Amino acid sequence: MASMTFARNVFAKLILPAKYNLRLLDKVIGLRCMSIGNYEYIIAEKKGEKKNVGLIKLNRPRALNALCDGLMKDLKSALDAFETDKDVGCIVLTGSEKAFAAGADIKEMSQKEFSEVYGGNFLSHWNSLTHCKKPVIAAVNGYALGGGCELAMMCDIIYAGDKAQFGQPEITLGTIPGAGGTQRLCKAIGKSRAMEMVLTGDRMTAQEAQASGLVSKVFPVNQLVDEAVKTAEKISGFSKLTIAMCKEAVNTAYELSLQEGLHFEKRIFHATFATKDRQEGMMAFLEKRQPNFTDS
Ligand code: CAA
Repeated sequence: MASMTFARNVFAKLILPAKYNLRLLDKVIGLRCMSIGNYEYIIAEKKGEKKNVGLIKLNRPRALNALCDGLMKDLKSALDAFETDKDVGCIVLTGSEKAFAAGADIKEMSQKEFSEVYGGNFLSHWNSLTHCKKPVIAAVNGYALGGGCELAMMCDIIYAGDKAQFGQPEITLGTIPGAGGTQRLCKAIGKSRAMEMVLTGDRMTAQEAQASGLVSKVFPVNQLVDEAVKTAEKISGFSKLTIAMCKEAVNTAYELSLQEGLHFEKRIFHATFATKDRQEGMMAFLEKRQPNFTDS
């Protein structure tokens, strides 16, 4: 699949005249038949031995996966589909080896005026990506710039390929990060480093991102997605109900004071005692067997 996608992208870049539709090309080579959904800017597939991982690959190679409106609509639609798929327990979001995403689409944004962006609350809908109850792992190779870095930070875990670069270069375009870059980056890596990045537009390497806590693991470029899928398979093996509760509790740490957060955590912890999966997990431990979670 990966080699086919690569061949398709090389063909599209070098040979296919711009006017030709990539969707048509995909139909001809049958690529879309292997993926789920009929998307223009992404490829969605189920991965893992039990096909319990949803893999979404941003696929707008000619613009380094710049996050145009159509791509964001495709992404939301694929996330919603995996969210409602009972077999899928975790989602991996990735791009190409060159770019996770090079930011919001500058061409699309360039002619917008204040009345339009303020009146229409431009980009506010991106936040809906964070409403997914299932964990999302960002597997970042190449550039994660501007909206690309912000998109990665909307995910729950970030893994990076060893050539990845993270940055918020909006200042170089005369604007500022508009999808969480001034907020989530601060929380992830601290004020001084975040301030330096947004004020200079300087990028951070994968290794620096790991040292600063933005990224949890770094892998060789060609192993990144497989490693992310492995982690996603592991997560998918637990109770989906408990995983959703756990994700909600961790995300609450971003919003509440310590006392409020601890109170919330306790309530959710207590709530797990109302589930069959909590009972099953503890009984399985005592009976020295593997648990059989039923997501109930
Ligand atoms: N929007 C639209 N198109 C983009 C793009 C973007 N963010 N980033 C790259 N592209 C396009 C380029 O225009 C180019 O298209 P053409 O071939 O038609 O000219 C193609 O992708 C390849 O890009 P380059 O030729 O520039 O590739 P490169 O390897 O020389 O450089 C790069 C790569 C350093 C990532 C460079 O493309 C770049 O700096 N991109 C812009 C990064 C950026 O500023 N991102 C922030 C956007 S604003 C934002 O995201 C706001 C927010 O908070 C949501």
